[in-house]
Amino acid sequence: KNVAIIMGGYSSEYKISLTSGNVVFNNINREKYNPYRIHIFKEKWVYVDENDAEFPIDKNDFSVTVNGTKINFDVVFNAIHGTPGEDGLMQAYFELLNIPHSSGDYYQAALTFNKRDMLSVLKPYGIKTAESYYLNLGDEINVEKILAKVGLPCFVKPNKSGSSFGISKVKTRGEFLPAIENAYKEDDEIIIESFLDGTEVSVGVINYKGTITVLPITEIVSENDFFDYEAKYLGKSKEITPARISDELKVKIETVAKRAYEVLKMKGFSRSEFIIVNNEPHMLEMNTIPGLTTESILPQQAREAGISLPELFENAIELALK
Ligand code: DAL
Ligand code: MG
Repeated sequence: KNVAIIMGGYSSEYKISLTSGNVVFNNINREKYNPYRIHIFKEKWVYVDENDAEFPIDKNDFSVTVNGTKINFDVVFNAIHGTPGEDGLMQAYFELLNIPHSSGDYYQAALTFNKRDMLSVLKPYGIKTAESYYLNLGDEINVEKILAKVGLPCFVKPNKSGSSFGISKVKTRGEFLPAIENAYKEDDEIIIESFLDGTEVSVGVINYKGTITVLPITEIVSENDFFDYEAKYLGKSKEITPARISDELKVKIETVAKRAYEVLKMKGFSRSEFIIVNNEPHMLEMNTIPGLTTESILPQQAREAGISLPELFENAIELALK
C-alpha cells in the first residue's frame, strides 16, 4: 500500500510537524507499506523523495507523477499539527476524494481544534473545565468584567492553536492587554481561562486494534510557569509516565478521558490535557494530531504500554483503511 505521510502545514507548528512526519516515515513497516513524504505548505504541496527532490502534487486527485509514472495513495497518515491538518480542512479534502486518512472525520477535527466549542460540548456530560471568557477579533475588551469572571492569575490563549504558541499566563492587570495582543497573532479568537492550581496530566486515548484504549497517564512537571513552548520542546520540563497518582484518581481520569473520546466520536489519535484540582480532573484541551517525535508524550505513553512506534503507526494506518 502507498502511504502518503503529510507533514508541515500553515501554522507556527510546522517545524514540529516535520519532525513528527519524519519519525513516522522512519518507523513505518516497509514490508507492508511504501511510505511517501508529502510536504504541505501554503506555497506548495510536494512529494519529497529520498534525495530531497520535490514533485508537485496534483490537487485534483492528490496524486503525483514521478518520471512519467502516476502514483496514487491508498491511505494518508496525517502528521500535520495545527491548520490545515488538525482543524478539519485536510480531512474534508480527503473525504471528498474518498482517500482514507488516519485522523478523525473533518467535523470531529474542526470541533476538537476549537477549544471553546469542544469544551462546551463536553460540559453537559459533567466534564469539568476552567472558568472562561471568549473574545472575537474586534470585540470590545472589558478588562474589569473579564477579570471579575476569571480572576488572576489567568491564561490567555488563542482559541485554535497548539504547542502553546500565543499563550500567556497573566499575573497582573498590566500584563493582560499585551497577552491579548500576543494571542491574536495566532488566531482571531481568544479564550481566557481561570488559573487551575493543581497537577497537570496528559492522557493519550487511541483506538488500538478496535478497542478504545487509555494509555499510561503522564504527569507534567514544568520548570517554567506553565507547560509552555520551552518546557515542551527545549527540555524545561519533566514528563513522568506513569503519573504518580493514586489508583482511584487514575481510574477517574481514565474514565473522563475515554468519555470525552467517545462523546466527540473520535477515531484516531488523541491526547488530552487535564489539571487535577481537589482530586477532580479539569479538561483543558484535546490534541488530535499529537506530537509523534521520539520524545513526544504519546509515543512515550505507547512505549510504556508495550506498543512500539512501528506498531503504533501500523495500527493507525490499518484503522484508517477499515
Ligand atoms: N500540538 C502538539 C504537537 C502536541 O499536542 O503534541
Ligand atoms: Mg495543544
